[in-house]
Amino acid sequence: MKKLICYAALILGLTGLIMSGAHMAHAQSAGNLPKVKEFRIERSMPPQAVACIECHKQEHPGLFGDWAYSRHASANVTCYDCHKAEEFDPDVSKQHYKQYERSEVKWGKREYKVPVAAAVTPKDCSRCHPDEAKQYSQSKHANTIEIIWKIDPWLNNGMNSDFERTTGCFHCHGTVLKMKDDTLDPQTWPNTGVGRLNFDGSKGSCTSCHTRHRFSVMEARKPEACGQCHLGPDHPQIEIFMESKHGDIYTAFGDTYNWNAAPGTWTPGVDYRAPTCASCHMSGSGSVMTSHDVTERLAWETQAPLTIRPENFKPFPAKVNHEVEREKMKVVCMQCHGKVWTDGHFVRLDKNVKEYNEVYFKPADKIMKDLWSKGLVDKTKMFDEELEVEYYELWHHEGRRARFGAAMMAPDYAWWHGFYECKKRYVSFMEKAQDLIKHNQKAYKAAEFPNATGDTTRPKEIFGE
Ligand code: HEC
Ligand code: HEC
Ligand code: HEC
Ligand code: HEC
Ligand code: HEC
Ligand code: HEC
Ligand code: HEC
Ligand code: HEC
Repeated sequence: MKKLICYAALILGLTGLIMSGAHMAHAQSAGNLPKVKEFRIERSMPPQAVACIECHKQEHPGLFGDWAYSRHASANVTCYDCHKAEEFDPDVSKQHYKQYERSEVKWGKREYKVPVAAAVTPKDCSRCHPDEAKQYSQSKHANTIEIIWKIDPWLNNGMNSDFERTTGCFHCHGTVLKMKDDTLDPQTWPNTGVGRLNFDGSKGSCTSCHTRHRFSVMEARKPEACGQCHLGPDHPQIEIFMESKHGDIYTAFGDTYNWNAAPGTWTPGVDYRAPTCASCHMSGSGSVMTSHDVTERLAWETQAPLTIRPENFKPFPAKVNHEVEREKMKVVCMQCHGKVWTDGHFVRLDKNVKEYNEVYFKPADKIMKDLWSKGLVDKTKMFDEELEVEYYELWHHEGRRARFGAAMMAPDYAWWHGFYECKKRYVSFMEKAQDLIKHNQKAYKAAEFPNATGDTTRPKEIFGE
């Protein structure tokens, strides 16, 4: 029923396309696309929306062009449909009212004046895409600000500065949006992190994978969309993918994949011959439905210090059953692989996870706790003693790489960047730790830890006062 509204909008859009058919035919016969798509204004659009389009077409041709080429434009979804605000909204752009006092510009007149806000949130999109917004809201992506404040020592011990967080952590995870002097606070905006907390209470920003104003499924289906955040020493999924056979095939054949297949119809074997991040984690495949909750299809928390089941992840227990989710992931594989091949892969992954837990993490964790409890390493702050850094990197860097490498078929990550590095780290960590215990000696503590000035209060918008 809810979908009906969107289809109605789609039909309206199609009528619009047919009406401007004469123009399209002209563009085709010219055999070349115009630099900026002509836009025929439809009668069904309110004049205020026409004003946005016409004025911004002059002011920001790049922004206008993106929108004009989007499915939204074809379906008559205008700037105003997304940026509409109420005068009393905290994030309404007060400065924008001045645009309607520009008598020199045709569209800058009072009669077109309406309140707008720059941030367009999952709640705004949910008017027309309720299912995607609901699934997204349940994911770890949407809830990551809460998760990181519950577990992260950089934040809870104030070991980095607020600025380092804004340009680093919060760029990927998201900021808590704030206003300052009547405009969005530069400490929090621009930002399109996956868990950004918006003024309307909704979490995230859909533009982190579908960049504005194309809002394309093609872009989100490509691994690079995920690789903006899923990269680097501690979560090198894009590097892992590119090194896997699936990534090789993407490199060789990607330009033949049908990236623009209609939503929900992107089919393994028909539209692509090897999966991308989206195929395995989000897109519909066989009997498994498309989901905007990336927590689905996972059976382990392979990023955690001790690998556990998603249901047992205390900061944000998944409301799933790991056996059901494992079966879903297998259905994806079995669009292209037999059962023996698929099962074999997961037997190895489960064994990898157990070896990591038992051989590397548990003994290191035990001795670290020992050092803290004996006071040989000071527990009040992380990272100011070398052993704390080594312990952290054992699970957070090489230990993750060993697990992710095995999960996503990248042998170089499973071994050379993974278990090989784990061994090196483990030997050095154990030697230093046992030495301190043997001599009952306190570890050297960095006298000056740079820029450990970050605010340690959890965001009250999530945790309350
Ligand atoms: C007469 C011209 C004009 C009209 C009409 C107009 N805008 Fe703008 N708008 C601008 C300009 C110019 C800027 C950039 C202002 C700046 O750079 O300080 C802007 C900025 C914005 C911003 C960013 C605001 C911010 O605080 O960052 C949004 C969002 C926006 N416009 C949306 C709209 C929408 C939606 C409409 C129609 C309801 C609209 N505009 C109508 C000229 C216009
Ligand atoms: C489908 C919804 C949607 C439509 C339609 C839309 N926008 Fe946006 N717009 C967004 C989103 C999402 C952002 C990114 C901000 C965010 O992450 O909240 C954005 C950002 C902006 C910004 C600020 C970004 C910057 O780089 O300064 C401006 C200005 C803007 N839009 C103007 C427009 C104009 C003008 C139109 C019509 C031609 C338009 N928008 C149509 C959703 C939309
Ligand atoms: C007023 C209704 C409306 C709003 C608001 C809206 N959309 Fe859409 N959206 C549509 C319609 C209609 C389509 C076209 C469906 C089609 O062509 O298959 C569409 C299509 C899409 C697509 C598929 C594009 C493709 O390449 O097939 C994406 C992705 C999308 N919207 C994302 C968003 C996001 C993100 C937001 C919020 C920032 C948003 N939409 C806000 C109505 C809306
Ligand atoms: C380049 C983008 C990026 C930056 C910068 C970044 N992270 Fe992350 N972070 C991620 C991604 C992606 C994951 C998911 C890892 C996984 O599941 O494999 C993650 C995972 C985490 C987790 C684990 C969450 C869980 O569910 O166990 C925490 C905690 C965290 N990050 C905190 C931080 C903090 C604090 C900073 C800054 C000091 C930071 N991150 C910087 C992208 C980033
Ligand atoms: C983590 C990346 C990511 C984020 C964030 C994201 N999407 Fe998507 N989205 C995708 C992928 C991948 C597809 C393509 C699924 C497929 O292959 O059909 C998609 C498809 C869509 C479609 C097409 C219909 C469908 O369900 O397949 C719509 C509409 C859409 N997204 C809206 C949204 C909205 C609204 C938000 C914010 C609440 C959002 N997306 C956030 C990755 C993302
Ligand atoms: C803007 C940054 C960003 C983008 C883009 C992004 N992610 Fe993430 N992703 C994160 C962060 C941050 C986390 C960690 C959230 C947490 O656990 O707190 C994460 C976690 C995940 C997880 C683990 C979920 C869980 O329950 O453990 C998966 C799977 C995932 N992302 C897949 C994807 C895929 C697939 C794409 C692309 C279609 C994508 N992500 C795009 C930042 C991003
Ligand atoms: C061939 C399918 C496949 C592809 C392609 C793939 N993944 Fe994965 N991914 C998996 C499997 C399987 C797991 C482990 C699932 C489990 O927990 O049992 C996993 C685990 C993850 C995790 C760890 C989640 C956690 O909390 O433990 C993240 C994050 C992730 N993938 C992101 C990505 C990103 C980003 C890409 C693309 C750069 C990608 N994946 C490509 C299948 C795939
Ligand atoms: C769209 C089809 C498709 C999907 C879906 C798919 N794969 Fe593959 N996979 C391939 C192709 C094609 C190859 C290359 C086989 C070869 O080496 O000839 C491959 C190779 C592999 C390999 C061999 C890697 C190597 O280096 O030899 C493994 C293991 C694998 N896939 C596991 C999986 C798992 C597990 C899943 C699900 C999580 C999955 N695949 C999903 C198409 C797919």
